[in-house]
Amino acid sequence: MSDETKTCSTDSGTEPTAARLHLPMWILVALLTLLYLGGIYFDHHSGWFDKQVYSPYSNAAMLESYQPKSGAAAALAAGRKSYEAVCGTCHGNDGLGKPGQAPQLAGSEWVNTKGHNRLAHIPLAGVSGPMQVAGKDWNMSMAAMGAALSDADLANVLTYIRGSWGNKAGEVTADDIKGIRSGMGGRPQMMTHDMLMAMPE
Ligand code: HEC
Repeated sequence: MSDETKTCSTDSGTEPTAARLHLPMWILVALLTLLYLGGIYFDHHSGWFDKQVYSPYSNAAMLESYQPKSGAAAALAAGRKSYEAVCGTCHGNDGLGKPGQAPQLAGSEWVNTKGHNRLAHIPLAGVSGPMQVAGKDWNMSMAAMGAALSDADLANVLTYIRGSWGNKAGEVTADDIKGIRSGMGGRPQMMTHDMLMAMPE
């Protein structure tokens, strides 16, 4: 026998054996409980990765950079805001009017005009007395609801009502309103159907 074999045989007694590491039961239970609670938390807070919850914007500045700043989209957005604040209570946010309160603007021949002179006179001076709107008879009165709005605000409102709810008339600019307003003088008389029809469209 060589020395080598001897060494081997002496060592064989201390060779490591495969043994099972006993994971304490309470750790296992704790881990499973955490996993379970995590699942519930995820269920309640994740929105299931819905696009509306996980928006593609990483901060407010980025979101803002996507908002329309100028042009037609901005005019429509601003016009809608003012319209819903000033006109929508009577004419409805859907432009369909309200029985006994105000006629519809959707499909109205007063809104869908080629020019905007006649239309602008309505909110700037008010209108009262009998008038037909989309085949229906009205005989009420509307104060000069747009007189307190700035040129730009009223222009946006008119652009909005001319381009919404199926209406397809052209945009109105702040300069248009400025010109019409100054042509009307300080305290304009309230419009009637006949007065409106007598002026250029
Ligand atoms: C207090 C309710 C009320 C508010 C607010 C109001 N209107 Fe009117 N509007 C009326 C009534 C009522 C008439 C019909 C008047 C008549 O019978 O002579 C009318 C008529 C009109 C007409 C002509 C008819 C039609 O439906 O097309 C236009 C255009 C119009 N309004 C635009 C506006 C705009 C723009 C605003 C906001 C700046 C506004 N109105 C705010 C009550 C209102």
